[in-house]
Amino acid sequence: MTNNNSLSQQYQFSEKKVDYFFEDFSFIEEKLQKDKTVFITDENLYAAHPEKFSGWKTIVIKAGEQFKNQRTVDSVIEQLINLHADRQTFILGIGGGVVTDIAGFVASIYMRGVKFAFAPTSILAMVDASIGGKNGIDVGVYKNLVGVIRHPEFLLYDYSFLETLPDAEWVNGFAEIIKHACIKDHEMFHFLQQHSLAKFQSSLKETASIIRKNVDIKYNIVANDELETGDRKLLNFGHTIGHAIENTSKLPHGHAISIGMLAACKISEAINDFDKEQTEKVKELLIQYELPVTFDSNKEKTWEILLHDKKKSGSNMSFIVLNKIGSASVKSIPLDQLHQIFNSI
Ligand SMILES: NC(=O)c1ccc[n+]([C@@H]2O[C@H](COP(=O)([O-])OP(=O)(O)OC[C@H]3O[C@@H](n4cnc5c(N)ncnc54)[C@H](O)[C@@H]3O)[C@@H](O)[C@H]2O)c1
Ligand SMILES: [Zn+2]
Repeated sequence: MTNNNSLSQQYQFSEKKVDYFFEDFSFIEEKLQKDKTVFITDENLYAAHPEKFSGWKTIVIKAGEQFKNQRTVDSVIEQLINLHADRQTFILGIGGGVVTDIAGFVASIYMRGVKFAFAPTSILAMVDASIGGKNGIDVGVYKNLVGVIRHPEFLLYDYSFLETLPDAEWVNGFAEIIKHACIKDHEMFHFLQQHSLAKFQSSLKETASIIRKNVDIKYNIVANDELETGDRKLLNFGHTIGHAIENTSKLPHGHAISIGMLAACKISEAINDFDKEQTEKVKELLIQYELPVTFDSNKEKTWEILLHDKKKSGSNMSFIVLNKIGSASVKSIPLDQLHQIFNSI
């Protein structure tokens, strides 16, 4: 794994440089002033880590994707007004991807934009949601329909937050880590094969190392393709079918994309000469990380939703396929063929 043990690193995006700090949360005391800062977090984090919030102005939102909406944004804005937040106020979002998305969005629109930063607390937020500048909310069934692209001033990774992360959220986060391995990093795939969730959960040092590796992967993809015309699309590996499954089944995101990733491997076999044995390896790894690989409910409805996917063009759909483990590309697949494979998963 990566040997990078430095306590900070600067990542250059086109809009700005963002500092990533790998430090204890008390570092915030040096970086931010209590009278000019507002924390935004959710009720679970607030209950699990009260000492971190003590003495700071804090807005606490309800936990869960169903609260990542305009109503919560309105309520946060009202609370900012009550706290006399002005253009000099700094917002720190402390939480999973829901909190970082809301905090980044609110900070981007409050008084036409105030400065903000994130302390991601879930694996998913650490390796995915808080990197890349996308901040937004859901509108009804439409996920992330409304939002902005704006980078935080900095990110603070305090891995001790992970001590209270529920098991199910470790599984969700590792689904994205396996995705990164499949599309970009054969070596990390191998490393994951030799480990397990339990091993990572019992060693924050190993977890820190794999998180930094994944920060690098996501950063490199985003920074090389900020307009999403090339490589950034690869991050959707497993997500086309995964999102449709998530929509109809109520499965957690990680579970849905796990099924989507295995389906994408089978599609890769059919249209991209992807080796069958490699599909087996991906399947074994997903199972090793406690992720499901099949589903049988609401298949027809899921197919309907998939057909409405924006990547459809005429009788074909563009799809992220693997060339081999660690390398992916975008290919077009005829819908008939996709339907056939979809029915077999
Ligand atoms: N902006 C982006 O580029 C981007 C990318 C990927 C995902 N996302 C978004 O991220 C969200 C998913 O993120 P998530 O999986 O972190 O969800 P989340 O924020 O809902 O967190 C999952 C659950 O874990 C709890 N939690 C988080 N950290 C904890 C901790 N340290 N201790 C105890 N409980 C903790 C939360 O309270 C919540 O109940 C989705 O809304 C998704 O759209 C955004
Ligand atoms: Zn995802």
